[in-house]
Amino acid sequence: MGWNSWNTFGCGITEQIVRAQADALVSSGLRDAGYTYVVVDDCWMAPTRAEDGRLQADPVRFPSGMAALADYVHARGLGFGIYAGARGQTCAQFTGAYPGATGSGGHEQVDARTFAGWGVDFLKYDWCSSDTSHGTQVSAFTTMRDALRATGRPIVYSINPNSGVAGSVPGAEFDWGGIATMTRATNDITATWSTDSGPSGYQGVTDIVDAVAPLGSRVGPGAFVDPDMLVVGVGDTLTPADERTQMSMWAMLAAPLMAGNDLTTMSARTRAVLADAGVIGIDQDPRVQAGAPVGDDPEIFSRALGDKGLVVSLTNRADHPRTMSVALADLGFTGDTVVGVDAWTGVRHQASGGRLSVEVGVHDTALLRIE
Ligand code: DGJ
Repeated sequence: MGWNSWNTFGCGITEQIVRAQADALVSSGLRDAGYTYVVVDDCWMAPTRAEDGRLQADPVRFPSGMAALADYVHARGLGFGIYAGARGQTCAQFTGAYPGATGSGGHEQVDARTFAGWGVDFLKYDWCSSDTSHGTQVSAFTTMRDALRATGRPIVYSINPNSGVAGSVPGAEFDWGGIATMTRATNDITATWSTDSGPSGYQGVTDIVDAVAPLGSRVGPGAFVDPDMLVVGVGDTLTPADERTQMSMWAMLAAPLMAGNDLTTMSARTRAVLADAGVIGIDQDPRVQAGAPVGDDPEIFSRALGDKGLVVSLTNRADHPRTMSVALADLGFTGDTVVGVDAWTGVRHQASGGRLSVEVGVHDTALLRIE
């Protein structure tokens, strides 16, 4: 769990912004709710390496350097994350949005040592090359994994194999467990309910749920499928119900929770959605077992929790409120002694007639812990 700069600040990120976001994680209570990594995404680098071959921070937007920024973040009880490209360029360089060719391909050992020396605790490692052959990707991602390990510093390793050729989503196609701590399984999320741009384009919340739902068997301690960042509080296109559904489904999928909104200006509602202790508790359940659709229904998921616990989500994808229900037999229960307690509202729903039924608003999700 943490915060990432990309979805709100893109290439406009600066050290002042990062410091303000770190401060806001603390003052808002989100750090204490579990959001503990501050990740600087693309565009922190100077366009060229230093004379000794090391990466260096952009002198205008990060004049104090990355080690000083890591110190600032660490002093607030937070972990510090950074971004790099696995091939010749970062993604912003690859698309021409940012100058230079300072990817880590061929520089893995020196870059891993540099990051560890700066106090980096999390590396987001992006692909950004038109060569997405599986062998090339496995070799490149493994080389950086080993370089990080060789530093002796514990560093969360977050990879994105998808940012290459349109139409290719290798993060979903292959299982990256054992190579990375967390692996992106889709292209970039955008703050919408759904899009028509297909699997290679930007993805809305429900597109991502559909893409990630079949990958649950890959999820376990130390191996997370990453459905991309939270878009709660990013822009104003998502309704409160849309946002509750994103949090609910990321929790059902045992997904990393990386906020991407401006924490210094967020509304009380955005904070409340991000900080909901009941929903975070489901997401972070120590059993680390991803939920899956009940039957083939994309609106209803169940997830096993802890010791014999169970949670069921019912998402209303229709554009009108409706009563939704799940058969207790499909959850492995007989009789009507079952109660579903909504993690968002605390409302208790008693089963009846062999079903658990609940009224769900447009695009909202009932997230029921089963008792
Ligand atoms: C592609 C990734 O999917 C995004 O999350 C972001 O890291 C950009 N690259 C940065 O260029």
